[in-house]
Amino acid sequence: MSHVQFEYTSPRLEGEVMVPGDKSISHRSIIFGSISHGTTKVTNFLDGEDCLRTIAAFRKMGVRIEKEGSTVLVHGNGLEGLKKPGEAIDFGNSGTTTRLMLGLLSGLPFETTIFGDASLTKRPMNRVVDPLRKMGASIYGEADGNFLPITIHGGALQGITYRLPVKSAQVKSAVLLAGLLAEGETVVQEETETRNHTEVMLQAFGADLKQTEKGIAVTSKGNLTACDVEVPGDISSAAFFLIAGALVPGSKVTLKNVGLNHSRTGVLDVLKQMGASITVANERTTGGEKIGDLTIQYTALKGTTIEGNVIPRLIDEIPILALLATQADGKTVIKDAEELKVKETDRIEAVCKNLQALGADVTATEDGMVINGPSRLTGGTISSYMDHRIAMMGAIAALITEAPVKMDEKDSINISYPTFFDDLEAILQ
Ligand code: S3P
Repeated sequence: MSHVQFEYTSPRLEGEVMVPGDKSISHRSIIFGSISHGTTKVTNFLDGEDCLRTIAAFRKMGVRIEKEGSTVLVHGNGLEGLKKPGEAIDFGNSGTTTRLMLGLLSGLPFETTIFGDASLTKRPMNRVVDPLRKMGASIYGEADGNFLPITIHGGALQGITYRLPVKSAQVKSAVLLAGLLAEGETVVQEETETRNHTEVMLQAFGADLKQTEKGIAVTSKGNLTACDVEVPGDISSAAFFLIAGALVPGSKVTLKNVGLNHSRTGVLDVLKQMGASITVANERTTGGEKIGDLTIQYTALKGTTIEGNVIPRLIDEIPILALLATQADGKTVIKDAEELKVKETDRIEAVCKNLQALGADVTATEDGMVINGPSRLTGGTISSYMDHRIAMMGAIAALITEAPVKMDEKDSINISYPTFFDDLEAILQ
């Protein structure tokens, strides 16, 4: 593999970026559009590889989906309109597609085989397979169904009450989707808030879903009805430029139209805790999701502790927050984040090895890392680990390193942010 090199002679950032649509919400718009009756128009859909996998999966199950750029029309014929796919379905790198579809496919009256790329094949599926089996699902795969490829013999399901043992919105969503097909009520209980896009959107599509004393309750009562979705900008993508603005002296960056759902804004809480200057403007709500414009201005920051309930609210932003912590004054401790080990790669290892290679003082721990700042970043050779968020962290690091950053590849950014480098160029002064 030939390396790519990042070198920025004048790294100051100024200007506005309209980040692409939210990955989680884009996936859900296709899934719920496909299982409802009528045409769902999705605007600002994320044209990234993961979300395209979700579209491809439903097309294989007979749903007509038209796409022109970031506008998508999903012609749903209800749950009963889904047909057995003619061949096994490739979910590529997409954990969200896999876990949510496991929930849905468990209750559909046909057999499906699903597989993925090398990274996805290593990611644990028992977190969704276990509760789905409790509902009556027949799931077969490597290591008793923990790893892809997996075959699902869809059939009758029973509602359950399930307390999430992992802080995962993917698991919650898989069980709720199965609950849409199950007999009786399905209740999911979570100790810590995880992203709630499934609940918000299912309600907009008319599902019988309620937040009750017992937990999030759903039944199979009634049909879902098509509902247009305006996808907010992805705060997990915005985080790269927000933090770039906080890293490079003299910078001022505005991110337009960013999703500000409380279950996703942990990164803003931590930035403020570190002393960052952030303002929010033009707040509004669309389809139950809050949106606004974020402006950040460079200012010196201090280290902090990131732990507990905030972790699921910023889990995907930890790689870029770790880079920021190398420039903050004092110690930053990240804990309770063992989930990082089962993302697209082991992100504790990937972040620590890369930051160490660039000259930072970082130590990996069992459930996070400890970073002492500020430290001079020299530059050097790193790996993306074929993980989109690690690749973007590497490119942003080069804004503040003394020598260039070399990385083994950069195309993995296409998973969640295909226009990342264009957007970066546009605000470089
Ligand atoms: C997602 C949930 C999170 C997140 C992932 C998207 C979702 O994963 O890391 O990028 O869309 O539900 P977990 O549910 O495994 O924490």
